[in-house]
Amino acid sequence: MRLPYLAIIFSFLAFAAVSRASNVSYSGSAVTTRYWDCCKPSCSWAGKAHFSSPVQTCDVHDKPLSDFSAGTGCNGGTAYSCTNQSPWAVNDTFSYGFAGVFIKDHVEDYWCCACYQLTFTSGAIKGKTMVLQAHNTAYDITSVNRFALGVPGGNTSTSDACAAEFNVPQSVFGTPGVGVNSRSDCDNLPDAMKASCYWRFDWFLDTDDPTVDFQRVQCPAALTNITGCRRDDEHDFDSTSAAPKLLPLSSTATAILAIILSTSLLL
Ligand SMILES: *[C@@H]1O[C@H](CO)[C@@H](O)[C@H](O)[C@H]1NC(C)=O
Ligand SMILES: *[C@@H]1O[C@H](CO)[C@@H](O)[C@H](O)[C@H]1NC(C)=O
Ligand SMILES: *[C@@H]1O[C@H](CO)[C@@H](O)[C@H](O)[C@H]1NC(C)=O
Ligand SMILES: *[C@@H]1O[C@H](CO)[C@@H](O)[C@H](O)[C@H]1NC(C)=O
Repeated sequence: MRLPYLAIIFSFLAFAAVSRASNVSYSGSAVTTRYWDCCKPSCSWAGKAHFSSPVQTCDVHDKPLSDFSAGTGCNGGTAYSCTNQSPWAVNDTFSYGFAGVFIKDHVEDYWCCACYQLTFTSGAIKGKTMVLQAHNTAYDITSVNRFALGVPGGNTSTSDACAAEFNVPQSVFGTPGVGVNSRSDCDNLPDAMKASCYWRFDWFLDTDDPTVDFQRVQCPAALTNITGCRRDDEHDFDSTSAAPKLLPLSSTATAILAIILSTSLLL
């Protein structure tokens, strides 16, 4: 008599997996912008999502801070973003990175520390892909899904925290809304930001806010090693696709089989 109960429980779990797969905003299309403000990222506060640890922050010397309650350097506090949460190219068509994220109809517990695979759909980098982790939240524009790519020298900010942190003039970060104007302007950035500033011109081809298709994926260690943040729901995603590990079709078939099995055993 035990088997039918197990079958019923299993079929329930299979249907739960199917209904989770129907949450369409795990994937979609979005716009991108660039940002780099040196502020403590929003996902660096405890309780922003169900995760192992908030996103790593750094002190004024770009060294990891252990106190997640420290205030942001953009408002008189001691916590800044760490310069290693910035993009790098694996090869000519694939890069890793970090972003401030906004996905419509959701709040930040939905994306903080989640990873997304982006496929660029416009401009010179059309067809290239990135996998990035949401280390921040982009609530400043909420009319559209958006990934604000963290790119040192890729934009300026009104708080001028980078200038304060690195004791350099704000002008080294370029023009408001644009950032540095050429690859050679990256030479003026603090050393820790130069490589990822060059990335914008070498890999990203200085594309002007390209659009993307995105899908949630399981975070690679290459990214979580840097932020120290892993979401509790990571096991629902695989490393190359937003689909749950049980494919909807196979889990539906399994559920139907389980029902047939349990019904026949009950009779
Ligand atoms: C989709 O996501 C929202 C927000 O996280 C959640 O409230 C809702 O239950 C999800 N829907 C499904 C079918 O999982
Ligand atoms: C720079 O940041 C501002 C504010 O978020 C944004 O409106 C603008 O589009 C950004 N610039 C680029 C090139 O993404
Ligand atoms: C680039 O790297 C990615 C990730 O490792 C890999 O899947 C892809 O095949 C590589 N592409 C080329 C052209 O080497
Ligand atoms: C992540 O960190 C662990 C522990 O330090 C290390 O063994 C592993 O190689 C790292 N993985 C990547 C992809 O950097």
